[in-house]
Amino acid sequence: MDEKRYLELLRRTLLNEIYIENDVRFLYLFATMSVHGNIDGNVVRQIGRHKADWLNGVKDARREGRPWWLINYTDSNAQPQTLNLRSVCDFNHTMVGRLRLENLEKCLDVIRLENIPGDVAETGAWRGGASIFMKGYLQAYALADRNVWVADSFEGMPVPSLPQDAGWDFSPAKVPILAVSLEEVQENFRRYDLLDESVKFLKGWFCDTLPQAPIEKLSLLRLDGDLYESTMDALNALYDKVVPGGFVIVDDYGDFEPCHKAITEFRDTHGITAPLEEIDWSGVFWRKTESRPG
Ligand SMILES: C[S@@+](CC[C@H](N)C(=O)[O-])C[C@H]1O[C@@H](n2cnc3c(N)ncnc32)[C@H](O)[C@@H]1O
Repeated sequence: MDEKRYLELLRRTLLNEIYIENDVRFLYLFATMSVHGNIDGNVVRQIGRHKADWLNGVKDARREGRPWWLINYTDSNAQPQTLNLRSVCDFNHTMVGRLRLENLEKCLDVIRLENIPGDVAETGAWRGGASIFMKGYLQAYALADRNVWVADSFEGMPVPSLPQDAGWDFSPAKVPILAVSLEEVQENFRRYDLLDESVKFLKGWFCDTLPQAPIEKLSLLRLDGDLYESTMDALNALYDKVVPGGFVIVDDYGDFEPCHKAITEFRDTHGITAPLEEIDWSGVFWRKTESRPG
């Protein structure tokens, strides 16, 4: 079907799978420069042949939404070293990986086929990729009357303020690559020809923007704020707006202990018994069965 092919092409583009050799080229260039080595033009040209293990590593990581920018090497004193090249080698428009984008499409298929009403929302957008995918889906299936809510500080992660987030500081001073401006995200939507008035940006900390956001109902809520505080703020403000039969997707359940804790606590407190379904090593989702929480 044309819609499926469009969405597969959109997914490949958001994940930078089509030109994935270029990611490995950057990795090779920066890794070589970092150890003051000589760059070999043949390696750059035929990177897949010369760095097959790196290429396979990047492909696997992109499928699973795992980090791939750490390079292990041995220095001139024969000591093992690890280089973190994320800030110069991470160019895809989403970090969620192929499996989680495929899950997103499946959830949206159910929403479409079962006529589950409501907008879709993502809390934690980074460069916008997963939200762009949702907008692409709605566009492909002529469901453009549904809004896509894109919530983010557009300034990166907050400095942890709760004990549950202690030790998980990914704020801009520590991880600057997570700070992506609103203008940059809008430009990314525009590049996919998917920026229109149905894409609603909520700029600011979740605790300030989400409780007063003019969202009526949601068929899908995608949580991707990593921290306990960010996950809890999103659930407290928006869970009630998810309609029965709607989906709650949690990107960081397996990756971030604070997020895992927030989900467990929220589900326990509100007596949510709908089973958590595993997407991959990090992502999970459940389908809301109750009409109101707790
Ligand atoms: C892991 S990234 C999101 C990845 C994204 N969904 C994708 O498709 O690649 C986390 C994002 O959440 C945002 N964020 C986390 N906690 C937040 C909060 N409390 N308020 C506003 N934004 C927050 C950060 O700015 C960052 O852009």
